[in-house]
Amino acid sequence: MSASKKTMVSGIQPTNKLTIGNYLGAIKNWVKLQSEYDCYFFAVDLHAITAKQDPKQLADNTFFALATYLAAGIDLKHATIFAQSHVRQHAELAWILNCYSYMGELGRMTQFKEKSSRAGETIPVGLFTYPVLMASDILLYQADLVPVGSDQKQHLELTRDVAIRFNHNHSKVFTVPEPYIPTVGARIMDLLEPTNKMSKSSPNEMGAVYLSDSMKDIEKKFKRAVTDSGSEITYVEEKPGIRNLIDIQAAITGRSIGDIAKSYEGKMYGHLKVDTANIVISELQPVQERTQRFLADKGELQRILRAGSDKAATRAEATIRKVYDAIGFAPR
Ligand code: TYM
Repeated sequence: MSASKKTMVSGIQPTNKLTIGNYLGAIKNWVKLQSEYDCYFFAVDLHAITAKQDPKQLADNTFFALATYLAAGIDLKHATIFAQSHVRQHAELAWILNCYSYMGELGRMTQFKEKSSRAGETIPVGLFTYPVLMASDILLYQADLVPVGSDQKQHLELTRDVAIRFNHNHSKVFTVPEPYIPTVGARIMDLLEPTNKMSKSSPNEMGAVYLSDSMKDIEKKFKRAVTDSGSEITYVEEKPGIRNLIDIQAAITGRSIGDIAKSYEGKMYGHLKVDTANIVISELQPVQERTQRFLADKGELQRILRAGSDKAATRAEATIRKVYDAIGFAPR
């Protein structure tokens, strides 16, 4: 860690399987930006239990997510990676920040409204306070930058508000973080319902491309992607399915959207689907192979994660001490 470097923090919930939305909206940008920052990337397993998890799968999903970070190119020279539950200070700061967050602002969170409407009568309190735990994840490491997809923007704004409020009530304890939301790939859509965000918990598995999908399945999913009844490939509002495929290509290749759209003038939808599948496959295949290699050596992976959580805990503890002092808890 270099003292002069700014800090970057981000995480993903290890629920179910990660999607190309997680990869393009988050992980790929972490890899791109990592060398300029002191980075903390974790699997947010404490967040995952706001929905019911199978205990037999939670640990596997956590290892899978963290192995994917490494496989995608996260470099331990720049980044500390670990499971959120291994650093107890996350939960500790969350309690404190619960006392600095308002019911009204949490009730306005779009993601809470969506998820709680699906939860029916038994909405866990954790789903409501979820953004406070996320604020703790970020503020604990004094993050300057938080790279996320656009669905997390509101949570980042809340994090900033809570940090500013705490600093104002006490002293300047927290760095107020900035979000980093990529210009392309910040919101990858479901392949079957391109007006909905692609999500780990998509109702139809054919609509989401998972990082663990076989190459054959990826091809099949793109071939069945919903477009529209027209035939012209243009990047316009009324063609969300076409836009999504072009976005996916642009996020992977770095080519401009205009350039990609132009290259399909006079071509059929089928061309765009097959090309997108091939681009995704050539991006994901090596990542999958490396993920499997990391998972095959569990001992080494656990060693990396233990070293990561030890380092993270030291940094986190320094913040907790400042917070306790600022609040005025009795010294031990
Ligand atoms: P999660 O697990 O839902 O998603 C992880 C990351 O992937 C991005 N993402 C997408 N990007 C583009 N298109 C999509 N379809 C798509 N789906 C998901 C998300 O924006 C996110 O960046 N609360 C967070 C996790 C979290 C966190 C944090 C993030 C907890 N603590 C601290 C940053 C910093 C979440 O549930 O993300």
